[in-house]
Amino acid sequence: MNVRCTRCGAAADPLRICACGGLPEFAAPSTRIDAAGLKRLLRERRASYEPLFASGVWRLRELLPPIAAEHVISLREGNVPVYASAAGARFCGADRVSYLHLGMNPTGSFKDLGMTVAISAAHALGARAVVCASTGNTASSMAAYAARAGMRAYALVPRGKVSAVKLAQMRDYGATLIEVEGSFDDAFAKLGEIEGAVLVNSINAYRIEGQKCAAFALLDERSWRVPDWVLLPGGNLGNISAFAKGFREARELGLIDRLPRLALVRAQRGVDTCASAIAVADPKSLERAHRELERFGGIELALDDAEIFAAKAAIGREGIGCEPASAASLAGAKALRERGDITRDHDVVCVLTGHVLKDARAYDNAA
Ligand code: F0G
Repeated sequence: MNVRCTRCGAAADPLRICACGGLPEFAAPSTRIDAAGLKRLLRERRASYEPLFASGVWRLRELLPPIAAEHVISLREGNVPVYASAAGARFCGADRVSYLHLGMNPTGSFKDLGMTVAISAAHALGARAVVCASTGNTASSMAAYAARAGMRAYALVPRGKVSAVKLAQMRDYGATLIEVEGSFDDAFAKLGEIEGAVLVNSINAYRIEGQKCAAFALLDERSWRVPDWVLLPGGNLGNISAFAKGFREARELGLIDRLPRLALVRAQRGVDTCASAIAVADPKSLERAHRELERFGGIELALDDAEIFAAKAAIGREGIGCEPASAASLAGAKALRERGDITRDHDVVCVLTGHVLKDARAYDNAA
């Protein structure tokens, strides 16, 4: 499959930023299977006991970069619930709110969908080691898949800014932790110092291919009914880019006939937020995410911790729960409902990106 730079359009290496500074991206897949056939195939694979198809990512292998089955490293990721939420609907004053809970993945976040593809690709290349910068979720996911693949994993994490639970998880999977002074952005800047390891942050184009499968999984679970809005928390902005790519491809393949609107919810700048996963000052996918938002009639908004925690409480009190950064999606739905962009009759999907057990400091629903 063709890989191009999203900025200058030149042929690109899927593992590296282009000389112009743009990010590499795989071209849209072309398959001879028609839309009805593809929908049927996905349903059949969902019901099958074939290990490869037990993964919500590899079930879509015709839409992914070609990687031989013997190199696929999977933990059965991507089979996550869509929960209809009465409390979420009340919280934001809309009739229909549901959550796509990507925290219900093997290592507790959406990163697993991208990591299975990135680590499988690295395995196919014969890589011995992988590296990433992370506030917790990316590195935990990398560590698990690298361990399954028999590779070494190096995690660059900002000292004092990563939840103890996530550090324990990385250690459990045998990763080498390198604590860096400063922020996520400072850790990212040090990535070049680890030689001989494949970079698996979301500038790695394989990550985006895996994460785009979340859009297909959402649509499949909804019997291909397109929601009016999909809201996502954003940090480095890889995930919203991946969702956008997934929805666009689903339309090009004829699986859906319109696109949802997208909303990107970020943490307010200059604030030491509890939503650590979205505290990224210099998002690597900013340019491409903005281009996608234009295509989707998208909206970007920044919220403070009080708004995010009110949403987190509503999600937790209903027995679902998520990490603080994830609750930004529901907080965003409330803000857009108040502004009138979301109307009462809209069908709203909030993406919950991480598991409730990530951040032990952030439980405060006792009120
Ligand atoms: N939600 C959660 C739970 C995350 O862990 C992240 C990113 C995001 C949202 C934002 O996603 O970067 O694709 O826009 N976490 C990174 C990490 C920074 O290191 O785990 P994005």
